[in-house]
Parts: sequence; C-alpha cells; structure tokens
Amino acid sequence: MVAEFKRLWQELNDIKKRAIALSSSFSQATQKLQTDGTPLPETLVEELAAYRQEFDRLRAKVQEFAAPQVAQLSVASLEDIERLLLKTEVAKIRAWHHSIDLGCGVITPGGGQTFSPKSEQRIGLPENLAGMTVLDVGAWDGFYSFAAEKRGAKRVLATDSFVWQSPMFGKGGFELARTVLNSQVEDMEIDVLELSPEKVGVFDVVLFLGVLYHMRHPLLALDRVASVTGKQLILETHVDLLDCKRPALAFYPRAELNNDPTNWFGPNALAVQGMLESAGFRDIKIVNTAQVSSNSARMVFHAWR
Ligand SMILES: C[S@@+](CC[C@H](N)C(=O)[O-])C[C@H]1O[C@@H](n2cnc3c(N)ncnc32)[C@H](O)[C@@H]1O
Repeated sequence: MVAEFKRLWQELNDIKKRAIALSSSFSQATQKLQTDGTPLPETLVEELAAYRQEFDRLRAKVQEFAAPQVAQLSVASLEDIERLLLKTEVAKIRAWHHSIDLGCGVITPGGGQTFSPKSEQRIGLPENLAGMTVLDVGAWDGFYSFAAEKRGAKRVLATDSFVWQSPMFGKGGFELARTVLNSQVEDMEIDVLELSPEKVGVFDVVLFLGVLYHMRHPLLALDRVASVTGKQLILETHVDLLDCKRPALAFYPRAELNNDPTNWFGPNALAVQGMLESAGFRDIKIVNTAQVSSNSARMVFHAWR
C-alpha cells in the first residue's frame, strides 16, 4: 500500500471525527437559536468555515490521487471522498482473491467469491468467537481472518507464504483491507511446514481453508497444523475420487487440477478423515459438500484435538 494512500486515509479519518464533533455543536447551537434566539457563536461559524476549507482541500487532493477510471465520480460528501479513495486503491491490486466489503459500497473484486455471511456459514465458522484465538493458515486477502475478528476473536493471526511472497500477487490486498477495516489482525509470513507452537503459538481455532491440496507433503502439513491447534480445526479442501470406497488420493504431478501446477493431491473424504486421525484429530465431521463433478467436490471438515 502506498504511503500516499495511508496519509490521505488518515486525513479522511481526522476530518470525519471533526465533522461529527462539529455537527453535534451545530445542532446544539441551532436548537438554542430556535428556543431563545441565542445567535450562533462566532467561534462555531469560524470553525464551520475552516472545516469547509479543509474539506475542499482534501477533496482536491483525493481527486488528484484518484485513478483515471474513477476520477470522474462526482464528489460532494465525505462518503464520496472515501469511495473515490477506496476505489482507487482497490484497483491497484492486481489480483484480488476475496470479495471483502470495505464500506461505502466498495467490495473488492475477488475471484474466490467470498460473500458474507454465506461463506462463513459454508465453513461453519462459529457465530461467537469471543475470547478465542484464531489462526488462519493461507489467509491470502484475509476474508476469514477479518470474519473471525468480527465474530469476537480476541486474537487472530493470518499466515501465508506463497501468495504474499509472489511478485504476481503479493500482500497488498490483505494490508489494504486491514487498514480500511481498522483491524487488529496480526500477520506472519510463514510456510505451513514451518508452523510450530514455538514459532506461532497454539490457537483455539485453526482455519486451513483451500490449502491442503496445494501441499506436496499433505500428511506433514497436517502434522504441523495439528501442532498449533488447541481445540478445533476447520478444514476446507478440494476432494477427488469420491467413487472410490477406500481412502485414496489423486496425484496431480503436473497441472492436471485446474491447470494449476501448485495443486498436488485430491484426497477423497475417507482419506481426509484418515489423514486427520493420523495427525491426532478426533470427532471428525463433514459439515459441507459442494459437488463440482460426479467424482469431485469441495468439502468442509471440522475436527477436534
Ligand atoms: C486457494 S488459496 C485459499 C485462500 C483462503 N484460505 C481461502 O480459503 O479463501 C490457497 C492459499 O494457500 C497459500 N499457500 C499455498 N502454499 C502454501 C504454503 N506452503 N505455506 C503457506 N501458505 C501456502 C497460498 O498462498 C494461498 O493464499
């Protein structure tokens, strides 16, 4: 995220606070004017004029900063300024994975189709995470990390490596959303296979969503994930070979799955259950299945330590 956006965002937040304070003083003063004829205080009139100047100055700066494709939007209010700033910054991120509502009608254009609250319901994210700690492994733009924070988690750590370190994707989407949502979600760039209680701690709830089939060493990855899970794991994954009645994994040595060479294995549900058990999880349940083809699907598993 460019420093200029951060500066303008801060200025916008300062002027918003000023607008709230002024509007309350103004309504009190106009009430007095109406009830006993007390004229508006001179200082309030001066403050209103100064505010107007400040607003015009910020509007000009934001219009100058705005991306050409949005610069034509008419800007008459603080909300318009906010929308212009957000649209400009959102457009700079090359590839959004998550659709995140940033406010003012701006939703990031994620290919991953995450929409609240449907997406949280799909993975069975507990409604109330008050007092809980949550680890989101492979968080990308952080949709689920922010959702966990919104549901009351006292600490959320978002981790990723591949996408955040990639020049093609990067961490810009996560950082922009975190700033705009005024979020306290923490972040760490760490590979799944490096996760350990010493490096990240142990979390009540661990989210491992859309990552398992990217693992070249899926059992090792689940061992690492188990080592940092205190209570519950929520696992979402592509599954394959659903017609096979024994635990089995489809192997994609090249780019057989979705033309993406970073996909390695498509386990069937029996295999996911067996792998979770072997990593030390119990009470394993399938909580959601979205069929993709006769033999493959996306499935959500809940498992406990
Ligand atoms: C399909 S995306 C899923 C993003 C998000 N969890 C979701 O469900 O919408 C896979 C994510 O896993 C991350 N990832 C892939 N390999 C990883 C690894 N070895 N260590 C950490 N993260 C990895 C990618 O960078 C990417 O953010």
